[in-house]
Amino acid sequence: MRTETGQVIRLGDYRPSDYLIDKTDLVFRLDPTRTRVTAKLQMRRRAGVAPGTPLTLDGDGLTFVGARIDGADAGDNAVSATADALVVNAPPASETFTLEIETVVDPTANTQLMGLYRTGGNYCTQCEAEGFRRITYFLDRPDVLSVYAVRIEADRKDVPLLLSNGNPVENGDLGDGRHYAVWHDPHPKPSYLFALFAGNLGVVEDEFTTASGRLVTLKIYVEHGKEPRAAYAMDALKRSMRWDEERFGLEYDLDIFQIVAVSDFNMGAMENKGLNIFNDKYVLADPRTATDQDYASIEAIIAHEYFHNWTGNRITCRDWFQLCLKEGLTVYRDQEFSADMRSRPVKRIGDVRLLRAHQFPEDSGPLAHPVRPRTYREINNFYTATVYEKGAEIVRMLRTLLGAKGFAAGMDLYFQRHDGEAATIEQFLACFAEAAQTDLTQFALWYDQPGTPNLAITTRYDRTARTFAVTVNQSLKPPVAGTPNAPMVIPIAFALAGKNGSTLDHDAVSGARTMQHEGEDGVLVITEPKHEIVFTGIAEEPVLSVLRGFSAPVTRVPQAPTRDRFFLARHDSDPFSRWEALNSLAMEDLIKATRAVSAGDPAAASDALVDIFSAVAGDGTFDNAYRALCLTLPAETDIAREIGRDIDPDAINKARRGVTEHLAKACERVFARIYHELQPRNAYDPGAEGAGRRALRNVALTMLCHAARSTDLAEQALAEADNMTDRAHALMVLTHLAPESEAAAQALEAFRTAFRAEPIVLDKWFTIQATVPRAETVETVQALTKAPGFSWDNPNRLRSLIGAFATGNPVAFNRADGKGYELLCAAIRRIDAKNPQVAARLMTAMRAWRNLEPGRRQRAKTAIESLRRGDRVSRDLADIIDRTLA
Ligand code: PHE
Ligand code: ZN
Repeated sequence: MRTETGQVIRLGDYRPSDYLIDKTDLVFRLDPTRTRVTAKLQMRRRAGVAPGTPLTLDGDGLTFVGARIDGADAGDNAVSATADALVVNAPPASETFTLEIETVVDPTANTQLMGLYRTGGNYCTQCEAEGFRRITYFLDRPDVLSVYAVRIEADRKDVPLLLSNGNPVENGDLGDGRHYAVWHDPHPKPSYLFALFAGNLGVVEDEFTTASGRLVTLKIYVEHGKEPRAAYAMDALKRSMRWDEERFGLEYDLDIFQIVAVSDFNMGAMENKGLNIFNDKYVLADPRTATDQDYASIEAIIAHEYFHNWTGNRITCRDWFQLCLKEGLTVYRDQEFSADMRSRPVKRIGDVRLLRAHQFPEDSGPLAHPVRPRTYREINNFYTATVYEKGAEIVRMLRTLLGAKGFAAGMDLYFQRHDGEAATIEQFLACFAEAAQTDLTQFALWYDQPGTPNLAITTRYDRTARTFAVTVNQSLKPPVAGTPNAPMVIPIAFALAGKNGSTLDHDAVSGARTMQHEGEDGVLVITEPKHEIVFTGIAEEPVLSVLRGFSAPVTRVPQAPTRDRFFLARHDSDPFSRWEALNSLAMEDLIKATRAVSAGDPAAASDALVDIFSAVAGDGTFDNAYRALCLTLPAETDIAREIGRDIDPDAINKARRGVTEHLAKACERVFARIYHELQPRNAYDPGAEGAGRRALRNVALTMLCHAARSTDLAEQALAEADNMTDRAHALMVLTHLAPESEAAAQALEAFRTAFRAEPIVLDKWFTIQATVPRAETVETVQALTKAPGFSWDNPNRLRSLIGAFATGNPVAFNRADGKGYELLCAAIRRIDAKNPQVAARLMTAMRAWRNLEPGRRQRAKTAIESLRRGDRVSRDLADIIDRTLA
């Protein structure tokens, strides 16, 4: 374990590498504990670098065997190697030379799941960000692009499958029960995109013909017997490939595209060139084992990794500070793909909810950082909601500002100009500035300034002058002392809504630049701290609808007047804004209810909210998925975020429950009708339409159980469920509303028995129990760490039990006696010894400790501090703790 504090890496210190690696020939002689790796590197001194300049290669925990330079053994004087670096003291003066290195690694001992490791008896690699240096010494940085040829040798019986990037070249027998395969990837790539998989899996095969007629073999490898469960992933892959051609004009560029599903993986999936490696929970699905949410995630992640082939692989990042160059852009692309495959408004609302739930708190707390950070101690800790999700919002704003045509022209120029390169955010933006002939200097602040800007907006209608005045103030509270907060470019998509929501015309606008792209909403372009905008020729008093489609990742405090929001909730022609209005009204009631609970009063919803809630519930013109979203109250964590300080999670829980019961009782008849009308008619279909029916019906089920204060209906639903969406939902309702009931105990046991051999399904069982909103869940989680099926070594198990408890159960995690914090910190200490990356990620659950009421705040702080003070912790974990406490 790397326990050093770690030095700070700075963007400003970037220098190109003195040496480049034109070609990389790797030979792996696979062995469970002593795998030999030979790397033959075709080195080249960069133009302008003095001959003989020493060369330092990165390593991490390597066992060095030997090195040769231009074919001759390099003695101890020529090369010095430690576990973490190899230095060629006086490289040949020639411009090019070869460097051969032999190392030994132990894949079985590799519990970090970075570098070469074992999973399910197979061999697997993960190299992003800095895992390749755990395989061999290398210039392990994304701006060193090399052409790889890989030879893998292994035992034929145990390891029949030998895979790496690119195209297969040859394979054969070695005698002695061993065999080999050779792969060649013609596309120069950074080391973080290297992949090897070797082992024994089943395969599903298909093919795809690209727009220009290239026939591509598609293979998805999964555990034997699970092949049928890869069908949906394969379908999603083919749809992704077609979509990228149609929407972005981007074709696949190798003869084969492979996906391997493994069960031990730190993240969701990895875009290695031609050989994506996936957490199996994002590949495997059938109606019996996967929920609609699982299907949607699989579709999105398959697309995301595939889209990286252009945004990430063909054009990669110059350095890790530019991570958002590939991640923000690729998330934007996968969001658009899902929007096209399903309902665009529903997708947008879901994405905005996620942004608010994960990115906004990150951006206002101790872990805040710019979308393009300027410093880091551990790059693994920067795969964040800010880099990914806010990064995607920035690309979306570009699209809004430039219109479909300008945006497409910028993207085209980017691919044309930077294909095969390692690029920067400046280069990316320059393509749009040039193609759309616009200045993006101020816009670039979105990459450099942390924090969520706030808009304060007021309006005034003058009947005689027929003018409508809109005042917009923008402000940015620096989340970290000393970070910049210059005014930003904020695109506000807007409409002036007349009676019934129809958009009113206007003559002229002064006070801000406005734009109108064909077929889209008008956009006000805010650039100053304050704009006084005046619309003329307004025939009747309008209601202002702004940030339509959530056109910028900002907050709006204060909210629009309550009367306007009730109007917009009924009439706004933009479905996102309509949901937004309704959601903010619900939030207002929930916050009032929380105050009431704290004062010892009962929680209730306002009459106006009840009215609109029942109107939406009964409105059959909305599609089902959209209605389900509208009828879902903000989560307890959303309410906590909105309250912001001195948070009492128990009061929030009571308040939300009270408001839910009130609304449920008031709308009981409507929900009963929905529940019966939406009974499943046809066989399960994972598409948007069926998923929408199930989503709305399950909202109705939850509400009916609340209204009746009984879980009878959930029990019945559980008995009838013929798919995992309905089954998991009913089990959750039953367990959360009646955790002590015999019915819940029996249902949980039945679920466990049915899925004991399916770890990713059993994860739902762990999560449902870890999120029961009551104090005793601390003890339940403790007990579940000893349950059969739990493992301290598998990231999915840890996330579904410990992670779900810490992020999805505010009541138990924040138990007033601090036992929830202690449980998390003890678990993290244990996990950190084996897998620092997962430990550090779990630690982020404590980032909002300062917002708690004083008693909990103190207990949380004590728990974090004692974790830091005990035995040494990894660099990953130390980085998160130190920033959390700073
Ligand atoms: N690059 C991966 C993705 O976003 C995420 C990842 C990062 C996976 C680091 C593994 C390690 O698609
Ligand atoms: Zn990605």
